[in-house]
Order: sequence, then C-alpha cells, then structure tokens
Amino acid sequence: MKKFGILIALIATTYLQADVEAGKAVHQANCATCHSTDMRGGLGRDFNLVSYTRTKKDIAQYAKDPYSLYKEFGYSANAMPTLPLTDKEFEDVADYIDSLQPFKEWMKKTKKK
Ligand code: HEC
Repeated sequence: MKKFGILIALIATTYLQADVEAGKAVHQANCATCHSTDMRGGLGRDFNLVSYTRTKKDIAQYAKDPYSLYKEFGYSANAMPTLPLTDKEFEDVADYIDSLQPFKEWMKKTKKK
C-alpha cells in the first residue's frame, strides 16, 4: 500500500513536470516576443509578475481568449492578440507561468464575478 502511494506520487510529479516543460516550449515559441521571464520587459508584463498576481485558471483563460477577461484585467479589448494554439498548449503554458513563483500563492488576485 505504501509503495503504491509512492508510485502515484511519482507519476503525478512526472506528469506535472512534463506540463511545465511543454509549457516552457510553448512560451518560447509563442509568447517570448512580448513577455519576458527575466524581468527585461516587453509589450506584455513579465511572466514572473503574472505568476505573482494571477491564478493558473485566469492565466489560461486570458491567454486562450483575451477578450473574455480584458475588463477584469484592466486592458483594452485588443491589448493582446488571440493566438491559434490548442487548449492543451494554453493549459501547459499556464502551468509553466504558474510555476515561476511557487511560493506566492497568497498574493494572487481571484477573479471577480
Ligand atoms: C504580440 C504580443 C503578445 C504576445 C505574442 C503574447 N502576449 Fe500576452 N499580453 C500582451 C499584451 C500587450 C498584454 C496586455 C498588457 C500588458 O500585459 O501589459 C498581454 C497580457 C497577457 C496576460 C495578462 C497579464 C496580467 O497579469 O495582467 C497574460 C496572462 C498573457 N498575456 C499571456 C500570454 C501567453 C500565455 C502568451 C503566449 C501563448 C502571450 N501572452 C503572448 C502581448 C502579447
């Protein structure tokens, strides 16, 4: 029973890690031109700042469909282009962004209804 738990934990971490790695590749190919991860800046906010202040769900949602959250986020309707990626790629890149600041859970703003 104990071994079984360890196996589950191992599979879970490997699986999550894979998403973060895949998300990093998605970022480099599709977001890095506008969003830095080393605080260099660009057209959009650095993803460390995004990681501090947004939930993973909101990150995936905004990336997938910027129009759906622009009011809550305080941007103009066409601030960011809608990118032609798959749902899985948006989820992966949100995992990656979320992983940048893992110890700042309490700073995240929740989405207002
Ligand atoms: C053509 C430039 C451009 C590209 C490419 C781009 N973005 Fe953006 N993004 C913006 C701009 C501009 C904003 C809104 C203004 C700002 O962040 O300062 C924004 C905002 C965001 C926000 C909200 C930031 C916040 O916390 O308020 C998220 C999340 C985001 N982008 C994710 C992504 C992801 C994920 C990708 C790649 C899949 C991506 N963006 C690609 C320009 C871009």
